[in-house]
Amino acid sequence: MNLTKRPRRLRGGEVLRKMVRETRIDKSALIYPAFVAEGLREPEEIGAMPGQYRHSADSLLRLAESMLESGVDKMMLFGIPREKDALGSGAYCSHGVVQEALRALKTHFPELYLIGDVCMCEYTSHGHCGVLHGREVDNDATLDYLARIALSQREAGADMVAPSDMMDGHVAALRACLDEHGYADTPIMSYAVKYASSFYGPFREAAGSAPAFGDRRSYQMDVHNVREAVKEASLDVEEGADLVMVKPAMAFGDVITRVKDSVLVPVAAYSVSGEYAMVKAAAAAGFIDEERIVCELAASAFRAGADIYLTYYAKELAGFITEGRIG
Ligand code: PBG
Repeated sequence: MNLTKRPRRLRGGEVLRKMVRETRIDKSALIYPAFVAEGLREPEEIGAMPGQYRHSADSLLRLAESMLESGVDKMMLFGIPREKDALGSGAYCSHGVVQEALRALKTHFPELYLIGDVCMCEYTSHGHCGVLHGREVDNDATLDYLARIALSQREAGADMVAPSDMMDGHVAALRACLDEHGYADTPIMSYAVKYASSFYGPFREAAGSAPAFGDRRSYQMDVHNVREAVKEASLDVEEGADLVMVKPAMAFGDVITRVKDSVLVPVAAYSVSGEYAMVKAAAAAGFIDEERIVCELAASAFRAGADIYLTYYAKELAGFITEGRIG
């Protein structure tokens, strides 16, 4: 055999494989999404997401401590209010569940970087991501509410805000409001490219946020589209988004790549609740190797172009990085 080119040469051992690796994963790129519920005494495990909890005020602090110990120093917060109403008033109340959680976390763990998810669906009685006009979400009327949510989260201690509502003009509305109140330095990470995905099912169970009627397809993106992702991301960057997100991550690698090639801001990918649920269920059934799948999914998101990875497996991944199993 006169083969001069043998790609296998670079696969000959772990040291060599690691040296020529094209994608490196660092703990600093991980964000852990957490749920905090108002009035809970004990954390409640989320049915479809074994190992993930609706946290009480106390258990959230313990969780934050364990995150920091594992090397994950960024958390995104979702709140579950005791009462929901048509205008989602719990979302922008200065003593709302997320605002209180932000305050407590900042006080106890100043080194923890806190991101507030800005949306209305966990707080509205109808489960939609904005205020309604008849049976439709009123885009423009919703913008004021979103801005109030972002401001209240910032005032309570959020270091960054992340609008996940998919309303047109949301980033501009948040930017104007934050600037006006002296928060010109607070970054906005926009869920610019958020698909109307069935992968969010377990999250909606966790937050009790499934729409009471209809669905989210009039504001979240059609899964068949990718050029539209470039349009959404570009618009949000023009409006002042400092980072953009693609969501879900698994099954949307092509979208991550396209967005990364099209905008000049960092790109985050969110491995959502349904991805976690699928891995957990298959692992519990003994069908897959959980650790290896988790590492493979993370590598695929970064390989596709993600700079930042939001995942319910953040702590486990940080552990795998420490142990040198991935990185
Ligand atoms: C709120 C929001 C959702 C998720 C993040 N922010 C739910 C939705 O749009 O229905 C999903 C996260 C996940 O599934 O892990 N709008």
